[in-house]
Amino acid sequence: MVIILGIESTAHTFGAALLDGETFLSNVKDSFTSEEEGMIPAAVADHHIRVLSDVLSKALQGRTDIEVIAYSASPGLGHTLRIGAAAARALAKKFGAKLVGVNHCIAHLEIGKKETTAKDPVFLYASGVNTQVIAFHEGKFRIFGETLDMGVGNFLDSFGRKKGLGFPAGPKIEALAKKGTKLIDLPYSVKGMDTSFGGLLTKIETLNEPLEDVCYSVQETVFAMLVEVCERALAFTGKNELLLGGGVACNKRLQDMCSSMCKARGAIFHVPANEFLVDNAAMIAWLGKVTYEKGNTVSIEQAGINPYERTDEV
Ligand code: ATP
Ligand code: FE2
Repeated sequence: MVIILGIESTAHTFGAALLDGETFLSNVKDSFTSEEEGMIPAAVADHHIRVLSDVLSKALQGRTDIEVIAYSASPGLGHTLRIGAAAARALAKKFGAKLVGVNHCIAHLEIGKKETTAKDPVFLYASGVNTQVIAFHEGKFRIFGETLDMGVGNFLDSFGRKKGLGFPAGPKIEALAKKGTKLIDLPYSVKGMDTSFGGLLTKIETLNEPLEDVCYSVQETVFAMLVEVCERALAFTGKNELLLGGGVACNKRLQDMCSSMCKARGAIFHVPANEFLVDNAAMIAWLGKVTYEKGNTVSIEQAGINPYERTDEV
């Protein structure tokens, strides 16, 4: 079996994972967090440089028989992508390994297929930067709908930052929402299969209600928007499986709402474990394996980054 090392560094998480065939031998990560602020690229880059050698050595477990190194080449923060790419190039030279650059968004989708029984699903990719409804159609991933302004995770994090919840705010909002009881009427913004969150972010700043009720109402509103666009995509494509990916998909309320919608229309709902939803290197190693088996490697000289690549350009 070919042993593959995956390296993730697109944003807040520096991760490394080892894949042997279909089995992950390790999946190690260290994520930037903050008590008060958001994600400042230079501070995140400092974090990654600090944890890099520890994460890599824990993931490698002393092994040197690495044949392929896959790294997240796109999209993400230039500051942090460069760190993963540099580590990948250095280790490729050291181990005499082949290099594969992969797209982080596609990795979020493909790991869901590996970890569940999904065959040909509509994907809801709900993460920090991205909120997209995607399906594989005629040889490539097509985006049927997406956010018109910010990703749902960035929306939650921006709201949380204003309330002093720190970064990432999503899990804290989920915990507070459990204590909320009152549903506040909030802007609901769906256009076809697209969504937008900017108006909602402005509106909630003007509210003078208990934070628990605001969190509850925010979740009910934005997740209803996401469920609506997923249902429309299922109807449009005629597919009968929904697969969740991305960090926001860790949210149990979102999972329950998606599951109810699928049940009502006789579709199958899939969601992998949390460790494969938030940024992780296992998904990079896995997409690296798929890419390597198709013969797509890059030389050390060519192994660069592409911070703005879109899912439908791959
Ligand atoms: P992208 O994949 O678009 O580049 P990313 O890599 O920053 O974005 P992920 O690691 O996939 O994103 O997801 C991080 C986001 O998930 C953060 O915005 C975080 O607040 C959110 N998140 C994590 N857990 C939860 C939760 N339980 N409920 C809601 N949001 C959550
Ligand atoms: Fe991500």
